[in-house]
Amino acid sequence: MQIYRTENYEAMSEKVAALIAAQIIARPDCVLGLATGSTPIGAYARLVEWHREGGLSFAGVRTVNLDEYRGLTPNHDQSYRYFMQTNLFDHVDVDRANTNVPDGLAADPAAECARYDRVLRDLGYADLQLLGLGHNGHIGFNEPGPAFVLPTHMVDLTESTINANARLFSSRDEVPRQALTMGIGGIMRAKRVVVAVSGADKAEAVARAFAGPVTPEVPASVLQLHPDVVLVADAAALSKLN
Ligand code: GLP
Repeated sequence: MQIYRTENYEAMSEKVAALIAAQIIARPDCVLGLATGSTPIGAYARLVEWHREGGLSFAGVRTVNLDEYRGLTPNHDQSYRYFMQTNLFDHVDVDRANTNVPDGLAADPAAECARYDRVLRDLGYADLQLLGLGHNGHIGFNEPGPAFVLPTHMVDLTESTINANARLFSSRDEVPRQALTMGIGGIMRAKRVVVAVSGADKAEAVARAFAGPVTPEVPASVLQLHPDVVLVADAAALSKLN
């Protein structure tokens, strides 16, 4: 595993964006695995800037997002489709037809999960998968549990995740209780995984994920088994990692 330690959130965002830009330059038709949450917003803003000012082109890029809330329409301002459109896709030259986010409105979630796994397989999985990290060690919406769940699946969100994400909704009651998420199998099949983390409140999760035992109770700990993981984190997030 490689670790980039940055001073702060801005520098972390710049480094994450640079890794993604390098991937696009190396393979203009690459498959990017993308993440939501507040952590990658700065990196997406840099990529938009480099697209506008530096000519970085997403024209051939294919994307697969990690997850989507169950029950939110694509234009709900907290849906992950909406997040991707407003933070990245609407501002670069990616072809919307080449962007994939699980359908949170699918009448048959199991069929939607199976469809998403076919999309992943047909794309050959991500060349670079970007991940944030939940306070309880979740990646995508793979929550702590008794076993790693490999395929795309529907999850019941934990209280910790509902509480953490409540800040983005007008009330806690509005946070969806379920989500569709790429499984650990889809994430681990990515050729390279870039984990972005910022802030002292994530320090414990970073230490448990990267210096503790590999256990499904800390889903991110499975990344210790991946051959090409890059952790990009600010000093505060790394403060409990020896
Ligand atoms: C959310 C997302 C994850 C994200 C994580 C951390 O619930 N499903 O993909 O990485 O929680 O979010 P944040 O970056 O806002 O701390």
